[in-house]
Amino acid sequence: MSNRMWGGRFSSGPDAIMEEINASIGFDQRLYRQDISGSIAHATMLAEVGILTQADRDAILGGLNEVLAEIEGGTFTFSRALEDIHMNVESRLREKIGDAAGRLHTARSRNDQVATDFKLYVRDCIDTLVAQIATLQLALVERAESEAQTVMPGFTHLQSAQPVTFGHHLLAYVEMLGRDAGRLTDARKRLNESPLGSAALAGTPYPIDRDMTAKALGFERPTANSLDAVSDRDFILETLAAASICAMHLSRFSEELVIWSSAQFGFIKLSDKFTTGSSIMPQKRNPDAAELIRAKIGRIMGALNSLLVVMKGLPLAYSKDMQEDKEVAFDALDAFSLSLAAMTGMVSDLSVDRERMRAAAGAGFSTATDIADWLVREADIPFRDAHHITGRIVAAAEAKGCGLEGLTIEDLKAVDDRLDSRIHKVVTVEHSVAARTSYGGTAPENVIVQAARWKSALTGK
Ligand code: ARG
Repeated sequence: MSNRMWGGRFSSGPDAIMEEINASIGFDQRLYRQDISGSIAHATMLAEVGILTQADRDAILGGLNEVLAEIEGGTFTFSRALEDIHMNVESRLREKIGDAAGRLHTARSRNDQVATDFKLYVRDCIDTLVAQIATLQLALVERAESEAQTVMPGFTHLQSAQPVTFGHHLLAYVEMLGRDAGRLTDARKRLNESPLGSAALAGTPYPIDRDMTAKALGFERPTANSLDAVSDRDFILETLAAASICAMHLSRFSEELVIWSSAQFGFIKLSDKFTTGSSIMPQKRNPDAAELIRAKIGRIMGALNSLLVVMKGLPLAYSKDMQEDKEVAFDALDAFSLSLAAMTGMVSDLSVDRERMRAAAGAGFSTATDIADWLVREADIPFRDAHHITGRIVAAAEAKGCGLEGLTIEDLKAVDDRLDSRIHKVVTVEHSVAARTSYGGTAPENVIVQAARWKSALTGK
């Protein structure tokens, strides 16, 4: 049998393989709510401008609400022969209300319909994701407050560089996440124009009111060009790009959690809730959640790449290629949302070994820069010379097999006579971090100020 929705000119139905490759109902059924909202807005508008009678409109709206209830109640049977969510819903509507259902598709096409549905879906996702990011930020800010004084090693090249405060390190991620939320919010602004009423590609001769449907669906305005409206997938590309950048941040943080929770570092302990054991090694506590978040970016940026490749050679307007947008996007947005939730759980639940962090912070002559700074400040030595002298102090410590704090006054004087006992205080990790009060620096007092700023931005208090 040929398809009732478009099969007038066909004498046979599709091959089974054709049906399989063509159908999107397996994944686009999750757009049912958006599809029905779009149809309700469309039918309401058609009646308002006199294209539909009030009676047909009432029958359509009543029927659509019943279809919605069936889908939500799990009693709806999706049919692959009906290809996609749009035709599954319309077909069920026809079963319920008869011929009036056939009037719903006046002045629209599945091309503007799918663009509308998908935009509405992505817009909801963005709202959820932005809220999830804020929740993660708040968890990090609260940790940062309690770890404002905790000293840990700061790294460059993963080599000990200078001590930092753990709170400062956590707030670095809060900043990244703030930009991530900003990118998603920007994408939402550009997304928020309604394609509905662009019809197949050229607009429609019916006297429709696109402002009305746009408003009913919470869009700022209708799209200004019908060809662009049905061809555009920028909104999901942009969302996936923003998601990829954020997932990259989550992945970097996960990598740090994996390193910090290793026996060799021992800076943190992840809770039982976010770790797993080994079936052979009884001692193990594996950071699986962190590892999976680290990996999820593969799907997310994979979806971005996949979709860019799908779109890059398509002539205007709609091509069926564009149906490939949804499966990867749904998977990526699900993975991203789950990653944010898992990261929030891990951050809230981990425990910190402040002593181990502090001990590690002093390793690797990490306060050497503080000696050079002291020579500049107290002995008026140019920084380059101070750097050289300090390099010799490090060499002396290395030769003696101790840290900078293990050098006696005599050891120091042997390198340069201008050094004195005040150096012993200068080389402590606490002194090092406390000194870095420049705006944006790691000093505990800065961390407290920045954490408070974020907290009030995030909670509105
Ligand atoms: N299932 C299609 C999609 O997801 C809907 C649009 C189909 N339009 C068409 N002209 N075949 O893109």
